[in-house]
Amino acid sequence: MAVPGPKARLWLWRLAAWTAGLAPLLWLGARVLQSRLGANPVEFLEHRAGDWSLRLLLATLAMTPLRRLTGWSEPIRVRRLLGLWAFFWICLHFAIYLTFDLEGSPAALAKDLVKRTYITIGFAAWLLLLPLAITSTQGWQRRLKRRWAQLHQLVYAAALLGVLHYLWLVKADLREPLLYLAILVVLLGWRLPWRGILRGHSPPRRTT
Ligand code: HEM
Repeated sequence: MAVPGPKARLWLWRLAAWTAGLAPLLWLGARVLQSRLGANPVEFLEHRAGDWSLRLLLATLAMTPLRRLTGWSEPIRVRRLLGLWAFFWICLHFAIYLTFDLEGSPAALAKDLVKRTYITIGFAAWLLLLPLAITSTQGWQRRLKRRWAQLHQLVYAAALLGVLHYLWLVKADLREPLLYLAILVVLLGWRLPWRGILRGHSPPRRTT
């Protein structure tokens, strides 16, 4: 079988990234149309959106290690797309909560932000990701130069807060949030400078 060339490979990676962001949306849309949302439809939608927020955020963070381990350039070229899909899902998750749980009331949001720690943590993660989504264009990348990479390191803190938010709200079965935490620890630990120290030289410069 012929090995796909660089253009075809990039196309396949882009297709995979679009599928990762869009397929759950189509699946959720189909469930809405078929009224198959279980006994608590709002909770169902909110939780599925939360799940995909975290999965796509972790997938975004996995692209740099994947590039390093394989030597392929495609993961880096779809990283921004995956990050924007993650942000889309977080906004959807937030919008479901605001619209259905709080009936669009800013006062109710302020009350929850003070009273419920997991809401405070989730909201902080969303706030951290907001400037990253806004400055994700090449124009902003050129304008901010080195500061762009520094700014975009906020994604690590946002992912950590996202996992903490999940851990905080779960009351009984901690297995799933702990699995996400383990994946995040591996993805962040992999980036630490000691990798370079172990190899006897300073770590190579990264953009994010
Ligand atoms: C990086 C940002 C965020 C991530 C990754 C995230 C992720 C998650 C996850 C994975 C769940 C649990 C889903 C499940 O049980 O299967 C969840 C639940 C929830 N999240 Fe978020 N979330 C984020 C931001 C927010 C924000 C900004 C809000 C609102 C201010 C919010 C409000 C909620 C609520 C109300 C629940 C359901 C809690 C419950 O029913 O007990 N989240 N989130």
